[in-house]
Amino acid sequence: MTHSITRRKFIKTGISLSAASFIPGTKKIIPPEKDRSRPVVISSRNGLRATEKAMKMISEGSDSLDAVITGVNIIEDDPEDISVGYGGLPNEDGVVELDSSVMHGPTHNAGAVAGLRNIKNPSKVAKLVMERTAHALLVGEGALRFAKSHGFKEENLLTDRSRKIWLKRKEMLSDSDFWLPSASEKIDPDLRAALDSHGTINCCALDAKGDLAGVTTTSGFFFKIPGRVGDSPIIGAGLYVDNDIGAAGSTGLGEANILTCGSNAVVEFMRKGHSPEEACIKTLVRISEKAKLWPRYLDENGHPAFDLNFYAINKKGEYGAASLWKGRRFAVHNGKENILRECAFLYKKERPVSAFSSGLYV
Ligand code: GLY
Repeated sequence: MTHSITRRKFIKTGISLSAASFIPGTKKIIPPEKDRSRPVVISSRNGLRATEKAMKMISEGSDSLDAVITGVNIIEDDPEDISVGYGGLPNEDGVVELDSSVMHGPTHNAGAVAGLRNIKNPSKVAKLVMERTAHALLVGEGALRFAKSHGFKEENLLTDRSRKIWLKRKEMLSDSDFWLPSASEKIDPDLRAALDSHGTINCCALDAKGDLAGVTTTSGFFFKIPGRVGDSPIIGAGLYVDNDIGAAGSTGLGEANILTCGSNAVVEFMRKGHSPEEACIKTLVRISEKAKLWPRYLDENGHPAFDLNFYAINKKGEYGAASLWKGRRFAVHNGKENILRECAFLYKKERPVSAFSSGLYV
């Protein structure tokens, strides 16, 4: 099974090759997997510590779901990651609202929370929704009450750093309101970090028993309307696992993913025999086609003006990841090494990544 996307296959997808900036990922990015040994843990770029921890737990006999949740808890707890958990960037009111889902292959069960405030590990709450309720998704006030009933302690998730970024955004938003940026501060390093970042973490694993699981967790779209829910807690969009086939998850613009059920599509393409990387690419091609109907999300060339990334593992322990835009990376622990790799991609020209010029930041 090849991991390269041939020109012929691309033409079949119906995506135009004429645009100068559209250069399909013809390069073989991930080496053949014939010597790949299970288990495998894959994650988004910010997940190297998560893959390390999850692989350690799996090698000690842990269930794949426990392993990936413990892995992403490291990132949720880290105030330096401004896209997840504690220190995540807030909504337009300056309040951090977290989304997360978990899915367990062997039981084909899932749990999720959305718009959860004041609890820094939404992935742990999502697992409890799966295990201790007959529901699949709890939101907002109900999710918080559920978490508290299980002993979670409320805390303010807004760090000084994320508050400063939020304040700067608020001050830059309009020239005709009453919020003024500081005269002395020219380039705020925290603001620069926000501009250069991509957030959310997905982590999927195949354990030693051959069981699959996944988790996605995020603080979502920076400056979102309070109550906005992204793809991360939506099973089939930000995460999907079929224990017979594979697991897939996503980071990037949640709205585009919700409208196309992306992670479910990746698993379905793997079911048809595509490698994980091919499945991610084919899903992005489909989304790219649909994006032509969303003028708000198109750049001047008619290409998606947003980021979207998929990460996937199949039942054999093959893995792959793909992004709309060149230059994205993912973390993987293949049982031998824990490394960042380049994602396959659809579009080569770098899109301008700016939370503040495009309004898109996830
Ligand atoms: N993908 C994360 C979000 O849209 O919230």
